[in-house]
Amino acid sequence: MSGRFIRCFSDPMNAPARVSGYQNAHQALCDRRLVQSMYSECNVLMERVLLTLHGEAHTCRRAIEWKLFRRDFARYYEREVYPATVARTLAPYLARGRLDLPEFGFRVNINLSADIAGIDRPDGAIEETDALVALTRKFGEGATLFHSTRDKDVVRNEVTDALNEFNQRFLLPAKSRREALLTRIAEGSLAEEEAPRDILTVLLANRADQDLDDDMILREVAFFMQAGSHSSANALTHSFHELDQWCRGHPEDRDRLLTDDLFLQRCVHESLRLHPASPVAWRTASEAFALPDGTDVAEGDSVVIDLMSANLEEPLFGEDAAHFNPHRSVADRIPPFGLSFGIGIHTCFGRDIAGGLGNARAEGEAPHLGTLTNLLRNLFQHHARPDPANPPLVDAGTERHNWGSYPLLIGQEPDTAGTAT
Ligand code: HEM
Repeated sequence: MSGRFIRCFSDPMNAPARVSGYQNAHQALCDRRLVQSMYSECNVLMERVLLTLHGEAHTCRRAIEWKLFRRDFARYYEREVYPATVARTLAPYLARGRLDLPEFGFRVNINLSADIAGIDRPDGAIEETDALVALTRKFGEGATLFHSTRDKDVVRNEVTDALNEFNQRFLLPAKSRREALLTRIAEGSLAEEEAPRDILTVLLANRADQDLDDDMILREVAFFMQAGSHSSANALTHSFHELDQWCRGHPEDRDRLLTDDLFLQRCVHESLRLHPASPVAWRTASEAFALPDGTDVAEGDSVVIDLMSANLEEPLFGEDAAHFNPHRSVADRIPPFGLSFGIGIHTCFGRDIAGGLGNARAEGEAPHLGTLTNLLRNLFQHHARPDPANPPLVDAGTERHNWGSYPLLIGQEPDTAGTAT
């Protein structure tokens, strides 16, 4: 019997084709014949943003935006900007002695998102940050609508309202300021290096070449607001939870959380591996071809890339791959976080900023730890620990396994053994 006949076929009337295992998933994520398809549920936000573009349009948009994310930016941000942001955001929670971890994660990363997206915060007031957090959380709900358990039309309407408010209050003033600066640069009265280094400026400077209308710019900037904070807030909460559980069973590792930054970073990577932002990536075949495992797909077929199965592959991550173990050794050339930042065409822009660069650094330089490790270190330095009176709750609004609330006590000495610090 020829190989042709023993292949499986995907059946579009039933289940979509499924790509499992690390190498197959890796190959599929790099395959240009597979087009992004998980975000069309919320076109009001996601239509033609970077994550949903394909082919030439995606390559061109990615090329102009990627320039902002060179490694020097991640290092600069971590050293120069982030410590002050974290200290400022943490202060009121320290005074109160408690915080809700997903909410805190969102609030601290909203500054990162706004800096990258190009949203000014002229007041610097708490109310202004509150408004940005609420709007960006709504964008996050829109971007993940595929997995929402809420009425999708209701969510779409809420996202539309949030976009209108964001446009009036935040985007239009930020745009006017940047347009005036770009005019001065074009006239020669301002040096090009004086232009703000953010997505909005890049889009305005390239709007004619890239065919960008006002609505497109609004969606792209709103998308970056959520991309920079939503996944990070969830990843922070998962990491804290995994570490808390780990230290209960391995008290000998507790001190290392405060003394060994690279160990803490390994814990973050291990948690990211076990908790990818989405356990699957959906794509549509743009033509008929055979998937990496030999399954034939026809044009228009849906393909599910199973990131979870990739991240749990035992030959690469060990027999205990399904469990959190920061001491595991991982196969050569496989990232410790697996495919949790994607790979190939849509590889995450924020991978180095959020996850850091491990031990890779120039001689004499401090390791680049990433925002997640830095945040956890700050929390542990302030004795953050689960609030025994308020257990964490899963997020019932999504099929993704995220924490909806995770109350912590912070700022006093831990009173009992068995807490994370
Ligand atoms: C723990 C934090 C994060 C995780 C787990 C994460 C995960 C991912 C994943 C899996 C993708 C690819 C999706 C796909 O292939 O369908 C992606 C894309 C993307 N991420 Fe992240 N992300 C994180 C943080 C960030 C941050 C801080 C930014 C900063 C702006 C960011 C910006 C982006 C952008 C712009 C894309 C789209 C890239 C493209 O389509 O070419 N992410 N992210």
